[in-house]
Amino acid sequence: MLNPFLLMAAFYLIVAIIAAADAALTSFTLLPWFAGLPWLRVHFITLGVFTEAAFGVLPAYVAARRGAATPATRWDIWLMLNAGLVVLLAGVPSINAGLIIAGGTLVFIAVTLLILQLRSLGLGHSEGAGSLKFYVAGLIYLLVGILVGTGLWVGWSEPLRIGVPKEVHIHANSWGFASLVFAGLLIDLLPALTGAALASRRTLTLIFWTMTLGALGLVLGPWLGGNLYVTVPGLVLHIGATVWLLVALVQALQRHGLFASAGAWHLVVSYTWILLPVLVAPLIILGVSGIPGADIEATAPQALIYGWMLQFFYAVTPYFMARWLLRDAHARLGGNWLSFITVNLGAIFIWVSIFLVDLRSPIHAVAYGLLVISLAAAAWETGAIVRDALRRVELRAGQAA
Ligand code: HEM
Repeated sequence: MLNPFLLMAAFYLIVAIIAAADAALTSFTLLPWFAGLPWLRVHFITLGVFTEAAFGVLPAYVAARRGAATPATRWDIWLMLNAGLVVLLAGVPSINAGLIIAGGTLVFIAVTLLILQLRSLGLGHSEGAGSLKFYVAGLIYLLVGILVGTGLWVGWSEPLRIGVPKEVHIHANSWGFASLVFAGLLIDLLPALTGAALASRRTLTLIFWTMTLGALGLVLGPWLGGNLYVTVPGLVLHIGATVWLLVALVQALQRHGLFASAGAWHLVVSYTWILLPVLVAPLIILGVSGIPGADIEATAPQALIYGWMLQFFYAVTPYFMARWLLRDAHARLGGNWLSFITVNLGAIFIWVSIFLVDLRSPIHAVAYGLLVISLAAAAWETGAIVRDALRRVELRAGQAA
C-alpha cells in the first residue's frame, strides 16, 4: 500500500517549484500580472510538503517505537487535511471568509484526529525520552497556529485579544510546530542512520521541556502585544534547546562519518536560517541604525521557510519516500551538492535583498532563481523514487489481474 500523504508531499514539492519560479519572474517584471501570491508560496511548503509529510510518517514512527507494524492509512484524516488544503488554497488568496473558515476548520479537525491517533498508538507504552511527546506538543502548537491563521483575515484576532496576530501565527507554527516535530523526527531518524540514539534520555527530555516552554514564551509574547518579559525568556530557552539539539546532531553525524554526503549538511545548515533572525531580533528591538526592522519582518519569513523548513525536507523527504514507498530498509538522507549550494545561496540572497534597497528586485529575482534550481534538484530525486514506487504497484496490480 502506498502512503497517500507522502504522495501529496511529493506533489506539493513540485507545485512549489512553480510558485518560486513565479517569484523570480515577477521580480524581473517578466510576469507582472502574476504577482501577489506570497501566501501560496509559503503554504505550498508549510502545509503542502511539511504537514503532509508529517501526517504520513508520524503514525508509522510512533507504531515502530512500540514494535508494531505501520498502521493502515486513515483515509478520514487524509480527506479532511487535503479537502481543507484545497479550500484554503482557493479561499486565502481571494480573502473569502467562508472558504477560509471552512478550510481552517477541516485542517484543524485533521490535526486533532492525528493527535488522537498518535495517542492511541502510543498507549500503554513507556515512552521515556522518545519522540511521541515532541510530536503531540508540536501538533498542539499547530492547532494554535491554525486557529490564529484562520482568524487572521476574518476578524477573530480582536475577540481573542491577540496583540500581534501574524507574529503569533508564525511563532506557533515555526517555533512550536516545526521545531518540535523536526526534533522528534531527528530522534526517530538518527538510530536508523547511525545505529545509535541521538542523545541520552535525560538530555532529550531536558531539550523537550526547554524547547516547549521556549515556544510558549514566543507565542504568548506577541499574543500579549509584544511583551518582552515573556518573549525574551522564551527566545533564550528555545534557542538554547535548539543549539543543544544541534550539537548532539553534529556529534552523532560526525561519529558515523555522515558528513561525506550532502544530506547531513542540509540537516545541520538548515538551522542557520532559524537562528539568524533570532540574532538580528535584538538589533531590531533596540532600533540600531541601518537595520531595516520592517523590511526584515516582511522578508525574513521567506528565508526561514525556504532555508530552514524546505532545506530540512530536501534531506528527509527522499529518505521517507524510499523507506515508506519503496520499503527500503537501508534508505539514506536525500539532497545533493547542487540543492545544497543553491538553497543556501538563495536564502543568502533573500537576506541581502533586505539591505540593498536599490537592487532589491534583481537580487530577489536571483534568489528565487536559485531556489527554483534547488527545488528542481530535490524534486527530481524525490520524483524518481515516487515513480519507481508507483511502477511497482502498477506492475503488481497488472500481474494480479
Ligand atoms: C490552516 C492552516 C493555516 C492558515 C489558515 C494560515 C493562514 C495564514 C495567513 C492568513 C497568513 C498571513 C499572510 C499575510 O498577512 O501576508 C499566513 C502567514 C504565514 N504562515 Fe500560515 N496558515 C496556516 C498554516 C501554516 C503553517 C502550518 C505554517 C508553518 C509551518 C505557516 C506559516 C506561515 C508563515 C511563515 C507566514 C508568513 C508569511 C510571510 O509573511 O511571508 N502557516 N498564514
